[in-house]
Amino acid sequence: MEPNDSRRVWLTGAGKGIGRALAIAMVEAGWTVAASARTADDLDSLAAEAETKPGHVVGYPVDVTRAAEVSETVERIEADLGPLDLVVLNAGTHQPFKAADFDIETFRRLVETNLMGTVNCLAPVMARFIERGRGHIAVVASVAGYAGLPTAAGYSATKAALINMCEALEPDLARHGVKLQLVSPGFVDTPLTRKNEFKMPFLIPADQAANDIMAGLQSRRFEIVFPFGMKVAMKALRALPYRLFFAITRRMVGS
Ligand SMILES: NC(=O)c1ccc[n+]([C@@H]2O[C@H](COP(=O)([O-])OP(=O)(O)OC[C@H]3O[C@@H](n4cnc5c(N)ncnc54)[C@H](OP(=O)(O)O)[C@@H]3O)[C@@H](O)[C@H]2O)c1
Repeated sequence: MEPNDSRRVWLTGAGKGIGRALAIAMVEAGWTVAASARTADDLDSLAAEAETKPGHVVGYPVDVTRAAEVSETVERIEADLGPLDLVVLNAGTHQPFKAADFDIETFRRLVETNLMGTVNCLAPVMARFIERGRGHIAVVASVAGYAGLPTAAGYSATKAALINMCEALEPDLARHGVKLQLVSPGFVDTPLTRKNEFKMPFLIPADQAANDIMAGLQSRRFEIVFPFGMKVAMKALRALPYRLFFAITRRMVGS
């Protein structure tokens, strides 16, 4: 598949935030978007918003934590719309907490949504793409997966796992003709980040994130990371020896 050929897309987490802005950018490019999230009303309003655009949106409400329902949804999308060209696994959640509030159920919910939710979507999609010898998958992780950051023990752990998983799968999938990309956003203004109580550096609007992702999807780069300032800051932080690393992150605990 040539990079510009992605036309029939399944996008998870399409109801709000980055996913919603990305869905709009895709329909503006004339693509057909099978849009998933749990909240059907969000998908209905997205489909209505897309009506005046060149492409179109069809809503497929599903909870990504339910593997069997996810698999049925993939089957239904392909039966309705035809074989998928591109899948963007963007559904995710965040729950900041301090060490004193460390809680098993909160951690489990982050793992079930961000990590296992992505795995539940990947399994049926990869099986189809490998059999066809083509397809394009993008997994939305985060620069928060580069390093453990205060209040993000659960979130950063799930995103680090996604990064590691994609690094492991890429060479194998490439042999099968399947393109795998990792999307690593910095701070984007969405309902998810409005939970943060600190000033977020390099914060960008969701439509800017969507434009960066659209450009990245049409490139041959493995990692689509943005904005530039956050990319440099987080890659530099990760490269520091722990003494300096903790000198910086300990200050974040107090802020
Ligand atoms: N915003 C940022 O600064 C930032 C930075 C780095 C990475 N990211 C990543 O980018 C992705 C999108 O983030 P966002 O900021 O746009 O978040 P958001 O505004 O909270 O939107 C998340 C979307 O995912 C859906 N979703 C959540 N849990 C789901 C589930 N169990 N099943 C199906 N859909 C589910 C939500 O819809 P329902 O609740 O209706 O299901 C919603 O449509 C996430 O993976 C996030 O970790 C965000």
